[in-house]
Amino acid sequence: MSYIEQAFSSNWIAPLGENVDVFEAETAARVSRGHGVALSAGTHAIHLALKLLGVGAGDTVFCSALTFAGSCNPILYERARPVFIDCEETTWNMAPAALSAALRQAAAARRLPKAVIVVDLYGQSADYDALLPLCREYGVPVIEDAAEAFGAELRGRPCGSFGALGVLSFNGNKIITTSGGGMLLTDDGDMAGKARFWATQARDPVPWYEHTEIGYNYRMSNILAGIGRGQLLCLGERLRQKKSIHDRYAAALIGVPAAVLTAPPGYSSTYWLSVLRLDLAASLVRPPDIIAALAARGIEARRVWKPMQLQPVYAACPFYPSDEQTEPAGISARLFASGVCLPSDTKMTAAEQEEVIDIILGCFRHFYQKYQKISIE
Ligand SMILES: Cc1ncc(COP(=O)(O)O)c(C=O)c1O
Repeated sequence: MSYIEQAFSSNWIAPLGENVDVFEAETAARVSRGHGVALSAGTHAIHLALKLLGVGAGDTVFCSALTFAGSCNPILYERARPVFIDCEETTWNMAPAALSAALRQAAAARRLPKAVIVVDLYGQSADYDALLPLCREYGVPVIEDAAEAFGAELRGRPCGSFGALGVLSFNGNKIITTSGGGMLLTDDGDMAGKARFWATQARDPVPWYEHTEIGYNYRMSNILAGIGRGQLLCLGERLRQKKSIHDRYAAALIGVPAAVLTAPPGYSSTYWLSVLRLDLAASLVRPPDIIAALAARGIEARRVWKPMQLQPVYAACPFYPSDEQTEPAGISARLFASGVCLPSDTKMTAAEQEEVIDIILGCFRHFYQKYQKISIE
């Protein structure tokens, strides 16, 4: 509130001001980046990242298949062609093997992508140790969509710092929020300057309104950046809370035919959402059963992101599965069929989480009994 009051008392409500400058500098420093550009959405940060890399009509852009549509919609804003890359089992993020196959074929067809958008899903870093050398080999720049992973790390290196450009979201549901907003991250001062120029309607630096390029109204206001500054002070606490929510689920659900997505060694996740993966072969419980049982008690849970190769709007786009022979629909399709995003809000009390856990355990008991009855009959 004090940062917001400061904006009012200095009469810098909008468009820019001290809060924007400090929020950009502090956020960029938090992820070891030279520059941050505060924007009105993470989606806008992805759009500007694509433009900075020269993506235009007819170009190809690779993108993680298992993600939210905000990761890839900007590819179409620029009339480029998305190609979706499947995920791997361990991180649920872009599979190096699938990316390698896609790059090899693209190189052979002389149609290398202009960029690869790699998503850090549910707060979990992708395997950049494997992905970045591949992209380097083919000279293709990476945009890291760390919208859900502000505060996550891979071997001590922060998410948001891996690609030529990084993206954060401060949408209302994210680990910290400005009610709506995002940030573009880079070490390149010229790129940051160009992004600021495009984000403020591409006004040429002359004493009247002159435009030699098309711009956008994408900048974050000084009031919202004030919220962001305040939220940054809470980031460490939020990360601790999210981890303890994850750890409680993981410990309580150990005996059921399901697993809570957990960061592999060397990774630290934000656990933005705790995600349960059901073992469909070992039980009859399916994601809609758990979601319905929780909903009956007024508790919201959701399906895992529906992968982009299964989305009607992207149905015609090429897709590279992790294993063409054994699973052409992709690991991401299997995770969609078997995953549930569990309640993960940091305001949830331990008692409330215990209630969620009891309901989930009840689902497995219920189905087990039903199954037993059927087999006995
Ligand atoms: C993975 C991912 N990418 C991009 C976005 C887009 O961010 P925003 O909602 O700030 O536009 C989101 C979230 O909303 C997201 O979860």
